[in-house]
Amino acid sequence: MKKNFIYNGDCIEILQNVIDKNSIPLVYADPPYNLSGKSLDLPNNKTGGAFYKMNEKWDTYDYPDYLDFTERWLFGIQKVLLPNGSLYISCTQHNIAEIIFTAKKLGYKLNNIISWFKTNAMPNITKRTYTHSTEFVCWLVKGSNWVFNYDEVKKFNPHKTLDGKNKQLRDFLDFIELPIVQGNERIRGSNGRALHPTQKPEKLLELIIKASSRESDLVLDPFFGTGTTGIVAQKLHRNWIGIENNLEYVKIANRRLNIKVESEKCLK
Ligand SMILES: C[S@@+](CC[C@H](N)C(=O)[O-])C[C@H]1O[C@@H](n2cnc3c(N)ncnc32)[C@H](O)[C@@H]1O
Repeated sequence: MKKNFIYNGDCIEILQNVIDKNSIPLVYADPPYNLSGKSLDLPNNKTGGAFYKMNEKWDTYDYPDYLDFTERWLFGIQKVLLPNGSLYISCTQHNIAEIIFTAKKLGYKLNNIISWFKTNAMPNITKRTYTHSTEFVCWLVKGSNWVFNYDEVKKFNPHKTLDGKNKQLRDFLDFIELPIVQGNERIRGSNGRALHPTQKPEKLLELIIKASSRESDLVLDPFFGTGTTGIVAQKLHRNWIGIENNLEYVKIANRRLNIKVESEKCLK
């Protein structure tokens, strides 16, 4: 298996056939949430047609297929994680139940659910529910003796004591406030449009990688997208492996990571 490399293909196949068993200390996964085409399709909407938050083919499953897909990639990760490894999974209210239920069924232990409050969340157009302003990151472990760099995470806390020292974590809980990626951090095409609908903030990855890995550790992301995990891992002197089945996103991530070689199509 290659380090600092994006495998272009299906993560379930690559986890099973390419990634070494019991080799990865930290996995960050940002899987399809299965939101596309369903949400906010209002039959009586008079404001110009159905309004979709997300409409991507890779994010569209029948419910039983989504459960099966979730179980298969979680199983794949379980095989490649080190016995004391950590798995962090981004999700929302739409798929958190399926993720946690399936992970527990496979024998993972849930350590925390980090809530990410999105300070620039989508506006509440329908006014029929509370505004959806949070995403979650579930921290799951396979065994015991997981890495948690409490002192690093303490430094991450924006709040300091009156004399400027790092505070204990009492006021920096399993909660983080961050905007959805915008400005220079957002990867855009020449027409100014975002090239990926769900690019994650680097700051979120910084917290995860600092908390649960050590320098030169390997961080794997099976749903690599624009390569946010690779960028942050590199900045923090970690190695990384990305898996992404959309070749256009692989190219975007390779450009972002300054990687000249084209990723191989390793599995069909
Ligand atoms: C939610 S996005 C990840 C975005 C990423 N965290 C970022 O910051 O850019 C999920 C990604 O997984 C990819 N994907 C979906 N199913 C996949 C599969 N079975 N194997 C590999 N990649 C997959 C999609 O093409 C998409 O880019």
